[in-house]
Amino acid sequence: MTSEKAHLFETDLEKPISERMEVEYGETRATDEPFKAGRKVSFVANEEIKPEYGPGEIKGPDAIPSEEYKENLINLLEMQADSELAGALGYVPCIRYAPTVEEYLAAAMITKDEFRHARVCYKLLEYLGEDVDARMREHDFTLRIDADDANIGTSRVAADKRVNIFYYPIPTWTDFIMFQFCMDRGAGHQLEDSLESSYRPWAKVMEGIFKEEMFHIAHGDSWVKRLAADPKTHDQVQAALNKWFPRTMNIFGRPNSKRNKVYRRLGLKKRDNHEVRLAFAQEVQERCQEFGLEFPQWVPDWERLPEEAVVVG
Ligand SMILES: [Fe+2]
Ligand SMILES: [Fe+2]
Repeated sequence: MTSEKAHLFETDLEKPISERMEVEYGETRATDEPFKAGRKVSFVANEEIKPEYGPGEIKGPDAIPSEEYKENLINLLEMQADSELAGALGYVPCIRYAPTVEEYLAAAMITKDEFRHARVCYKLLEYLGEDVDARMREHDFTLRIDADDANIGTSRVAADKRVNIFYYPIPTWTDFIMFQFCMDRGAGHQLEDSLESSYRPWAKVMEGIFKEEMFHIAHGDSWVKRLAADPKTHDQVQAALNKWFPRTMNIFGRPNSKRNKVYRRLGLKKRDNHEVRLAFAQEVQERCQEFGLEFPQWVPDWERLPEEAVVVG
C-alpha cells in the first residue's frame, strides 16, 4: 500500500460524515482545460507496452481515433457502469442492517455513491452514442442468485456486464462491511489505472469516484478492525473474509491476457491483470496482520478465470 493511500484511509476515517455529504456531480463532457493525471499507479507493468495515447490525450467523443478504440472504451465503460448499478442495488437492502443511526446514514451514503458512479458512467456512454434506456429495459440489475453459500466461480449468470461478484446476495451487516473491505478495495486497485486513462472524460470523473471508493474501504476497514478485535464477533468476521476474499480474487482476469494488452496499447489500462490482483492481495494480507485475522487461501483456477479483467465499481 502506498503511503498516499494510507493517508487517505486515516483522514477519511476521521472526517465527520456530514462533511462528506456534498454531492459532486462533476462535468463529464470534454473540455479544453489542461489535463492533470490523477495519481501514479502503485505498480508498473512487467511487460512494457508502449501506449499509443497518453493520459487524457483523447479529449472527448469527437476525438476518438479509431473504431477499435471506441469499441474497447465502450466495453470497459459498460462493465464499470453495470457493476456500479448492480452494486448499488445490492447495497439497498443492507441499509436496513445498520446497527446505529449514524450507520444508517453511512450505509445510505455509500449506496448513494454507487448510484452516482453508475449515473456518471452511463452518461459517458450516452455521449458515445449508446442507448442507456434500452440497456435498462434489457437487463435486470436487481437479479441475485438465491443461495448465499453458492459458488458460481468465475461465471456470469446473466447477459449484463457486471462483475460476477455482484450476483451474490449480501445477507448481513458483517457481509456488507466485508464487501467493502474486499470488493471496494479490489475495485479501488483496478480503478487506479483509469485515473490515467487516455480518454479524458473518463479520467476526469474517476477522480471523484476514486475518492468515494476510498471512503467505502475506510468504512469497511474500521468495522472489520472493530469486529475482529471483539472475541464475540471475531470468528464471524473471519468466516465472512474467507467467503468474500476468494470471490474478489476471481474478478481480476487472467495474467497475460490478450485483451488487457490491447487496453494497455490504447492507454485505457496500465497494468497486467495479475499485477493488480497481487497489489490487492498484498494489501489484504497487511490488513489481516494488523487486525489479527488469518489471511485466507485462494486457489486460482486459471483456465476458468475470465480472460478479461472486468472494470468494477
Ligand atoms: Fe464502492
Ligand atoms: Fe463505485
